[in-house]
Amino acid sequence: MQFSDFGRKLTSRSGILQLMDDIGRPLPGGIKTYPLGGGNPARVKATEELYRREMERILSSGEAFEDIISHYDAPQGRTRFIEAVTSFFRSRYGWDISEENIAVTNGSQSAMFYLLNLFSGRTEGREQTILFPLMPEYIGYADQGIEEGTFRSVAARCEYFSDRTFKYTLDQEAVERYLNEHDEVGAIAVSRPTNPSGNVLTDGEIKALARMAHEHSIPLIVDNAYGLPFPDIIFIDDAEPIWNEDIILSMSLSKIGLPSIRTGIVIARREIASALSNMNAIAALASCTMGQVLSENLIASGELVKAAKEHVRPFYQEKARKAEGWIRRYFDGTEYFLHRIEGSIFTWLYLPSLKIPTLEFYSILMDNGVVTVPGEYFFFGSDEKPYPHEHYDKCLRLNYSGPDDLTEEGIRIISRLYREYS
Ligand SMILES: Cc1ncc(COP(=O)(O)O)c(C=O)c1O
Repeated sequence: MQFSDFGRKLTSRSGILQLMDDIGRPLPGGIKTYPLGGGNPARVKATEELYRREMERILSSGEAFEDIISHYDAPQGRTRFIEAVTSFFRSRYGWDISEENIAVTNGSQSAMFYLLNLFSGRTEGREQTILFPLMPEYIGYADQGIEEGTFRSVAARCEYFSDRTFKYTLDQEAVERYLNEHDEVGAIAVSRPTNPSGNVLTDGEIKALARMAHEHSIPLIVDNAYGLPFPDIIFIDDAEPIWNEDIILSMSLSKIGLPSIRTGIVIARREIASALSNMNAIAALASCTMGQVLSENLIASGELVKAAKEHVRPFYQEKARKAEGWIRRYFDGTEYFLHRIEGSIFTWLYLPSLKIPTLEFYSILMDNGVVTVPGEYFFFGSDEKPYPHEHYDKCLRLNYSGPDDLTEEGIRIISRLYREYS
């Protein structure tokens, strides 16, 4: 038996596989676990109550439940859900979209897999590529390209501040230069808020990228899994939801309470939404109906967005505030820097004095029960090894959405071991 190139690529020991394994697998017996690793969101009571209410309504309305579970939707998604999404974005933000601009997928991870491969790989005799203009980027993209070497990147610029924080910014000149010199780029892709750093690209940066995409007749893919208007895990006030025909906006219901009921939403120009539906038919026949059913009335009535703003955002903002406080307390006296926590459910810690790569440090932390994600996985898209960025093997991604006592103790243990390995 022999796996194909495609099979081998997708069964390799990828960073995302390790991360998802770490979420699901208990550590050896007797060790207390501090789960600061994968991307599991927290339970937020207010959204759970909304979904429960919707589920109870379904269960008590005749055969509505049986109707929902007993047939496939169209590959594009459920008609009523797509109508709700379309009219919400049309009326709330004035976006010029119709139902044909929407495609629903089994989570935004699948949407990104479709999109990144729709625009990269062998194209009319040459290799088309995806440009990630702000490395580090989400570990979950790194191995999604079916063909080797089609993901390219430009390293983020880094601005340091006197309060031990830093912020990644777009190196606009370098991105512009790259696009001018590489006409094989098929799309630009970013996450906003960015996983792992918690950075939120400014409206100006998004508009600059969309302009560059327009000039090169390629799309800008914006992964909005943590963004606006839902789940709204954005802590700065000057960020807006942005869409136009140059932008493909990928959204998700995972971080607003439904990670297990896979639901991704893509808003894009019609031919792209239609291409995604066709891909979905081949890869999955259709997407999961339940998340669409549970959320369609909530989207139409504005309740989901209200819950995001009034409950989800403050919930994570408070978690972020506490996590930053613990980092400042326990790392005091060490050489550390923290990315400004502008959004997402992560903090990104730069440990310049670390004597070993974070991949090694990660294993030592695991032995002590602390699950994190080492930074190396978030740097990809360059032929230079190691990746040419001073943060490459000196950063850890910490998920702060777990129980407070475990997050605090996890951070304390990391700081103790950082002192030992500095
Ligand atoms: C930036 C980003 N995009 C996409 C996803 C995938 O989420 P889902 O497939 O659950 O929508 C995640 C998950 O953590 C993420 O962090």
